[in-house]
Amino acid sequence: MQIELTINGKLKSLEIHPGESLLETLRKNGYTGVKYGCGTGDCGACVVLLNEKPVNSCQVLTAAVDGESVTTVEGIGTMDKPHPIQEELVKAGAVQCGYCTPGVVLSAYALLQTNPHPTEDEIKTALDGHLCRCTGYVKIIEGVKNAAEKV
Ligand code: FES
Ligand code: FES
Repeated sequence: MQIELTINGKLKSLEIHPGESLLETLRKNGYTGVKYGCGTGDCGACVVLLNEKPVNSCQVLTAAVDGESVTTVEGIGTMDKPHPIQEELVKAGAVQCGYCTPGVVLSAYALLQTNPHPTEDEIKTALDGHLCRCTGYVKIIEGVKNAAEKV
């Protein structure tokens, strides 16, 4: 079936299978910043923004979001032009293997859009769906806190 999605501000017409997840659709169309972790909604590696709100894309049927708007990490910043959240996560040492990072960046971005000066508890709540096997979370929280000063 054919659907349309606005991805990172660009309207795309995509051919999908009816049972395909948004995670699968995005990755097969080149948005490989979206990561497959668990496939069961438990790790946050696949988080994207759907109409500006973080969702686990492995749990979203693409057919159900026809016509909607999606933001992936590719729409937030690039290697040449990183977003301040990405810069501050790197500076804080919060990017080790990096597998959790795209999802964390998107959840932090959504948080700072609605709450530019979050408390530590608010940052923890915004990121509580993200598993990170490397950093122990302290550095991630520090990076988001520092980014909040700049965004
Ligand atoms: S891959 Fe979607 S939550 Fe883990
Ligand atoms: S940096 Fe490796 S899982 Fe988070």
